[in-house]
Amino acid sequence: MKETIFKQKHLLSIEDLSPEEIDLILEIAESFVEVSTRNIKKFPALKGKTVVNLFFESSTRTRSSFEIAAKRLSADLINFSASISSLKKGESLRDTVLTLEAMNPHIIVIRHSASGSPKYLTTFARSSIINAGDGFHEHPTQALLDALTIKQKFKTLRGLKISIIGDILHSRVARSNIILHHKMGNEISLIGPPSLVPKEFEQMGAKVYYDLKEGVKNSDIVMMLRVQEERGGGNYFPSIREYRKLFEINQETFSLAKESAILMHPGPLNRDVEIETSLADSDKSVILQQVTNGIAVRMAVLYLLKGERNEIIN
Ligand code: CP
Repeated sequence: MKETIFKQKHLLSIEDLSPEEIDLILEIAESFVEVSTRNIKKFPALKGKTVVNLFFESSTRTRSSFEIAAKRLSADLINFSASISSLKKGESLRDTVLTLEAMNPHIIVIRHSASGSPKYLTTFARSSIINAGDGFHEHPTQALLDALTIKQKFKTLRGLKISIIGDILHSRVARSNIILHHKMGNEISLIGPPSLVPKEFEQMGAKVYYDLKEGVKNSDIVMMLRVQEERGGGNYFPSIREYRKLFEINQETFSLAKESAILMHPGPLNRDVEIETSLADSDKSVILQQVTNGIAVRMAVLYLLKGERNEIIN
């Protein structure tokens, strides 16, 4: 069975995955894409298992697609809401997770503003932990759903040129994508102002450009990122007007990419800041396809992790 090549108990980062494991996740996700076109979309794979959605930061796409994915695999799902939990009374992250663990869930999906918090959970939790975005660190299922969308378009995940544009510094989506595409042997351009795209990113196997037109030339994939105001991203350039003038992707700048290029964005979008509305809504854009693929990729990850609990608490 091919699935035996998947060695992970948790999904914490793309860094932890081998190219073969990435290919396997995408292959299984492709089969779930096919299933989602059927009348009956449910599978018994996780029947009797419990998945906890533990989101300490806001989310539209990731949270709801993990919920749909878990339900399609017949798991029971608990949506934990930080705003109405005992965290408000001062309970720590560790005590919150230990309390939920006492109810014997099998998989915990966590989003948290602190980089490394999913890994911290693995030091004391018995469930499988899935990172749904941790601070500036990684957002592995986003990079995997992006990869699935790219593979659907180009029929391969190798030998492509991908340009990632915007607030790279604060972006866990960028980090996961850079690591994934470096592992798969793709060419990566990072584009933005020096304050948001430090040269040090070249150590990750990418090339840094401060000129949008130069960097985007001949790209197969143009991936736009949001300026992360909640992490202070807006303080790294003089004004939105100037940022837009230099780094917004619009019909003119997008035309420098290959004729067959696709436009991606993980969302949420700042329309007419980093991305021109007419382009975001054009047939070059695969932004909503990315959202749809989020369900299949998250189903594949939940399916592969299986939700087998450790018997011993570390
Ligand atoms: N792309 C992404 O993580 O979106 P959400 O914040 O809506 O989950």
